[in-house]
Amino acid sequence: MSTGSHTGSWQPSAAVSTSPQNHPKSSPYTSFDIEDAFIDSKAIVRLRTTSGAIFSFKAEPKGLRPSFGRLSYTPETGRFHEELVRRLTEEGKNPLKSHELSRFVAPSLAEWATDKRGLDVIELGPAFTTEIPFSLEPVIGSYTAIDFSPPFLNKQRELLAANPELLVRCNHLVANTYELWLPGSSTDFAVAVCHPPLVSATAQDKILILERLHSLLRAGGTLAVFPWYFNEQPISVSRYILERFRLRRVAYLPGQKVRLLLILEKQ
Ligand SMILES: C[S@@+](CC[C@H](N)C(=O)[O-])C[C@H]1O[C@@H](n2cnc3c(N)ncnc32)[C@H](O)[C@@H]1O
Repeated sequence: MSTGSHTGSWQPSAAVSTSPQNHPKSSPYTSFDIEDAFIDSKAIVRLRTTSGAIFSFKAEPKGLRPSFGRLSYTPETGRFHEELVRRLTEEGKNPLKSHELSRFVAPSLAEWATDKRGLDVIELGPAFTTEIPFSLEPVIGSYTAIDFSPPFLNKQRELLAANPELLVRCNHLVANTYELWLPGSSTDFAVAVCHPPLVSATAQDKILILERLHSLLRAGGTLAVFPWYFNEQPISVSRYILERFRLRRVAYLPGQKVRLLLILEKQ
């Protein structure tokens, strides 16, 4: 057990049974359903899986992920994003191509939602990626992409046009996550993948965004966040997320047990 280190650890590892056979061969991720998640008296985050294994994470102040504050969309950002879109369109180079998104996060979420239908889904900061809406397509009632970058969202809309039946269920909202206003209890499924307000923001801002997401989810709605490092998270953020949401499942790629996809339920 390495609860005194910066890394998460399984305990006892022998009790863990992975189920990679349930996942597509091209998506070699591992996932565990979580029975219980809590923070003990020594400020160690403990996740108990339904098979009885314990996931333990200790965050040390010196090992915390640095915060870069809030990003803003400036004219310079806009020129940079337009250039990225141009390279994708004209040269076929995708600088955001993420194997994690396509081989792991999107399939995990599709697996999670497989028996649901007609969901109102929002994605924070998709840029021009389409893995989430394409993977969740069978369960999507509506899909709203929210990003502060108009060129990214325009490109995403263009790429989604490959599936016209999906496109008619899609909306694109140019907005800063910090200023986002959507009606309360209007969303079934909120997804944030590599989204700076939940990755590199201050503890205070992460809590602010989690609170907003909580209020716009319907009762029992799902929040999916990736990547999530309990071992590099201020304990106030870990405490907040585990108090406001019930952690239902974690997933990760082989060898990356601390870089988690969290699937949470509003409670
Ligand atoms: C690193 S990219 C992630 C793209 C995609 N989700 C992925 O995993 O490949 C971050 C995205 O978040 C957007 N973004 C960053 N900060 C934002 C904010 N405060 N409000 C809205 N969008 C933001 C950026 O424009 C960009 O599209």
